[in-house]
Amino acid sequence: MHNERYIPSNNGGEPVGLAFGKAILLGEHAVVLGAPALVVGLPDCMTARDGGPAETLSVSVEPWGLSIEADAKEDLGSRALSALDDALGEAGVPRTSRDRRVLVSAGVPPRAGLGSSAALAISVGRLVARLAGREDLLAPKKSAELVKGSETVFHGRPSGVDAAAAATGGVGAFARSLGLTPVEHPSTIHLLIASSGERPPAREMVQHVSRLAERTTAARRQLSQLGDLAIAGASLLIRSNLRGLGEAMNEAHSLLSKLGVSTKELDLLVEECRLGGAFGAKLTGAGGGGCVVALCPPDKAETMLCRLQKTASWARHFVIEGGGEVPGGSARRGRGSREDD
Ligand code: MEV
Repeated sequence: MHNERYIPSNNGGEPVGLAFGKAILLGEHAVVLGAPALVVGLPDCMTARDGGPAETLSVSVEPWGLSIEADAKEDLGSRALSALDDALGEAGVPRTSRDRRVLVSAGVPPRAGLGSSAALAISVGRLVARLAGREDLLAPKKSAELVKGSETVFHGRPSGVDAAAAATGGVGAFARSLGLTPVEHPSTIHLLIASSGERPPAREMVQHVSRLAERTTAARRQLSQLGDLAIAGASLLIRSNLRGLGEAMNEAHSLLSKLGVSTKELDLLVEECRLGGAFGAKLTGAGGGGCVVALCPPDKAETMLCRLQKTASWARHFVIEGGGEVPGGSARRGRGSREDD
């Protein structure tokens, strides 16, 4: 993880608040019950800018057509913003810095399993902190802490993986008890993320899986396998075995299907990614709609993106830079290669 990336180096002097989107490569749902998840912070996803003083903290996200004001008695978005405003107040940010109109540009769709609510709250929180001269609140742990309340409004009792990834970026292993641990990966990874266009009822999906786990040993076994795959996936990524990681993702998709959180549309997108040459593909996030994530060879990514843009309601290619050493081998930077190439 490259923690310095949440601080913009130079934006012409204009203060901005940045945050990452998130894609879970392995371990969603299992992470709610304490198992680890392998997660990627997606770059260039959320940028908040100051639009001047306002009566109360208010936010507009242009590509989403969203405009909300902090209000504890209104719709979910306004309540979440009000919770963020309260957390900033409790952290000592004065009302004069919080009563702003904030303009946000988003590079991911809302409610699609890509951590958009956490990313939005973190980018707004960071902008307000910068305006107040509170650089101490920009650090990933502090920023993630500030959005706990707003995430609870949206998700009930989230694992915290969305906020951790949105605040930190890079690739990491997340567990409730340990937080986010960076996973250094020598190879650059190419991810294609495509949305089915269905808006997933994330909270209901999490409740459905938790109830299933209470009732059946099969579901408990599947969740434990999902957690094991996340641990194995992190180690495959560290060793640049992208083919192995892709296979783990394929396996995770079939386990998630057995848990009842895939849809026909998600299955079709997964199939299309695999036929297009992906190392592996699966649904990402809570499921019941939303997005699929595919890990692909670098030379196939753009062709696959063109095909996906015809069938998916939204699709984007993300490049996550690698660096460092392959354990027991020579340095390989950004080749998107696999262990046994
Ligand atoms: C949602 O992004 C991921 C889930 O595991 C829920 C959570 O971790 O809070 C489904």
